[in-house]
Amino acid sequence: MSSSSTIRDVGVSDFRFHCIACGDLGDHASQDFRCSQCGDLLEITYPPWKEARPDAAKLKSAWRERKLSAKATDQSGVWRFRDLLPALKGAEDAITLREGNTPLYELPLCSRFTGVPRLFAKHQGLNPTGSFKDTGMTVAASFARLAGFRWVACASTGNTSASMAAYAARGGMRSLVLVPEGKISWSKLSQALDYGAVTCQVKTDFDGCLRLLQQLVLQAPVYQLNSINPFRLEGQKTLALELLEQLDWEPPDHIIVPGGNLGNSSAIGKALVEMHDLGLIPRIPKLSVIQAEGANALFRTLREASGKRLISVAAETRATAIRIGNPASWKKAAHVLEATSGVCEQVSEIEIAQAKAEIGAEGIGCEPASAVTLAGLKKLVKQGFVKAHESVVLVLTGNLLKDPNFTIDFHRGDLFKGTRDESAAAELNDLRHPPVVLDATLDAVIGTLEQAEKS
Ligand code: F0G
Repeated sequence: MSSSSTIRDVGVSDFRFHCIACGDLGDHASQDFRCSQCGDLLEITYPPWKEARPDAAKLKSAWRERKLSAKATDQSGVWRFRDLLPALKGAEDAITLREGNTPLYELPLCSRFTGVPRLFAKHQGLNPTGSFKDTGMTVAASFARLAGFRWVACASTGNTSASMAAYAARGGMRSLVLVPEGKISWSKLSQALDYGAVTCQVKTDFDGCLRLLQQLVLQAPVYQLNSINPFRLEGQKTLALELLEQLDWEPPDHIIVPGGNLGNSSAIGKALVEMHDLGLIPRIPKLSVIQAEGANALFRTLREASGKRLISVAAETRATAIRIGNPASWKKAAHVLEATSGVCEQVSEIEIAQAKAEIGAEGIGCEPASAVTLAGLKKLVKQGFVKAHESVVLVLTGNLLKDPNFTIDFHRGDLFKGTRDESAAAELNDLRHPPVVLDATLDAVIGTLEQAEKS
């Protein structure tokens, strides 16, 4: 085990806030994390990197060594990479649940039918609260506490609220959750309740909740923890750092992520560009974003407005995590797609359900919003954008257990009942494994086994 002082000194992480539209640079951000000059979003930049670029080889070895340390911040799959994150004053300032450290799986079954032999899934659903949100929350919640806030708040389709509530509880802060009533899964709601959040089921959609929150933080001493908060995105960058480390710094050809409010794609894209600038990787993977057809604001914005102005939509999808029509970080996402030469695609409800069952059949499972990545990959292969010899990483953003109703409805054959997809859904019957109710006899069990053997 190396002494932590030698490891800690590799990078400099003094940071500033930079407006993505007018370029204004500042040391402080206002409560709504919008530029004081033009009102657009802020990102975090690291001016010291321009003067003295951190040494790539030293960074890599420090990150490897920290894995052997017993310190909480070294065991965190986020703070292990702290050289490329905004600096906290001391390690004890970090609120950590040992987030990150998620596995990279091969997908042999999906490889076969997509025709992409080198296909992997980075499973962010195996974070402490079951989604990728934890990697950003550990950073933003730590800065909230450092700034002396008693209350943190977010608007959410469920996962952000679960994660925020957990980190607030760990950090001794109170949390306020605004979620669209009836439009988030019970599993996610139950997490926020258990972690002690004041949970408001608001009679609007996610976009309405976010509008309310943006007004609230200007009037009350409440720290906002949505992905408009640039500290969140800095933490979420570590997905890409950890992934590249797992691939021994050999970049995949493609990384594919789901798109909702578009913070995560922006964070991963920022990390890829920074890693390339710092000499950590020799080339930038293409980052592509997949949206549900019913929540396809970025897809339409790029197709119909060449990415120049946002086309909002009235969002509707059973993948409730990405049921967002007015994505806050659309400009950042459009920028990273351009910087990485990626694309945006949309997939149907049937395609999402099918892909989710196919990922489940690999024995790993994910929530519906994550499954858009596999559904999107199939389309990108058909279009020739992804080629058979290329390597692809799908980012699975949430755990299977986040939305059991979707899974149970699918396997029971109820998911598309009464919808216009009802007859088309019959094509997915081979993927369904409905539960069987039996008499408590050996004969009944053996009969079921024999029946299953034939199918
Ligand atoms: N996948 C899952 C499981 C999500 O929960 C989300 C977003 C996304 C993908 C999309 O990520 O917004 O960064 O583009 N969930 C947010 C929430 C909006 O409130 O939990 P994004």
